[in-house]
Amino acid sequence: MKKTVRDLAVAGKRVFVRVDFNVPFGSDDDEISDDTRIRAALPTIRYLTERKARVVLASHLGRPKGKVVDELRLKPVADRLALLLGTPVAYVEDCVGPEAEQAVARLHDGEVLLLENVRFRAEEEANDPEFAKQLGALANVYVNDAFGTAHRAHASTEGITHYLPSAAGLLMEKELRALEGLLGSPARPFACVFGGAKVSDKVGMMRSMLQRVDIILVGGGLAATFLKARGLEVGHSLVEDAALDVARDIIHESESRGVPVLLPVDVLVAAEVKAGVRVRIVPVTGIPSDMGIVDIGPRTIEYFSGKLESCRTIMWNGPMGVYEVDQFALGTKCLINYLTAFDATTVIGGGSSVDAVQEMGLAELVSHVSTGGGATLELLENGTLPCVEALDDASQPCDGSHPGNGEAK
Ligand code: 3PG
Repeated sequence: MKKTVRDLAVAGKRVFVRVDFNVPFGSDDDEISDDTRIRAALPTIRYLTERKARVVLASHLGRPKGKVVDELRLKPVADRLALLLGTPVAYVEDCVGPEAEQAVARLHDGEVLLLENVRFRAEEEANDPEFAKQLGALANVYVNDAFGTAHRAHASTEGITHYLPSAAGLLMEKELRALEGLLGSPARPFACVFGGAKVSDKVGMMRSMLQRVDIILVGGGLAATFLKARGLEVGHSLVEDAALDVARDIIHESESRGVPVLLPVDVLVAAEVKAGVRVRIVPVTGIPSDMGIVDIGPRTIEYFSGKLESCRTIMWNGPMGVYEVDQFALGTKCLINYLTAFDATTVIGGGSSVDAVQEMGLAELVSHVSTGGGATLELLENGTLPCVEALDDASQPCDGSHPGNGEAK
């Protein structure tokens, strides 16, 4: 058990809160297109401001690789956060150094400051101890609420914990409770639904979940690789040839464990992945050589939903087809609809399946929608995350012995 923000005395203290404000922007404007991750951090920020803490927020945005990239500044995020909080949010164009220090010094109890993108400094991703110490020197305590980045041991997510008393934020706590619940003793039967494009991204999690679940369903781009691994022709569907052996291994392991891995029985195919093209529904044994899989077919939707109906726990990761194109979204949409109607604990584990459920306005009906992509995969694969491990254990005393002045704990 890790310490949480509730275990800290925060009144009048400078609290460094690492959040994951790595949010998407519209393609041709600087408007945030989805502020879910900002909203998800509000409970921790409000918890702290209501208790008169001085809140110093830090995040990355994109991958600027140690350089200042104007399009990746956090100013629009500070503005959106202020709107959502209904209070001003100060913003400073650096994350360490004199400007950042002065901005922190200007904070009064209950006020919020957002530092500049920590990845403008190469030392962040290098987890440079000196940089971590500088970040730590800005505050008295550290709270990590950036679940989406908890698989990256960087200076603001891991290194800083060596210099400050460190606890999990409320979002981090909620994510861990939901996802670790899947690894503990979930209600059975327990099903995992895997979709999305690449087997190689998911193989670790699939292997780990094979040891825990009662049934696995595979759709999306992933299905083409598994169908080919089973010896079927898949036309020009996107297949990861390098992952065929891995797919075969997973099939063998599932057979020896007696955990069925169900593949689509029919699919929607198209000659091109673009809106308006002619599509056909074909059995998986009859995929034309000049077409590729773009979605699961209607018999598969029925087959999969029939299998899921009796499950008491369902974890879903990855869309069933190229759902961004309306014509290819039926499989994903139907399964989400079923998922929200079933009497089961339902967890949507990150990435584009989260976008899909949000677009449909059904996120409220799912037991837990994770804000993490890679972090979810890694947690379900390894059972832990480096930045969670780095936090103080709940049993560690909060005796004020950590000076918060940049000295290692
Ligand atoms: C994410 O969006 O998955 C996290 O913010 C981590 O971002 P990264 O993959 O660039 O480290």
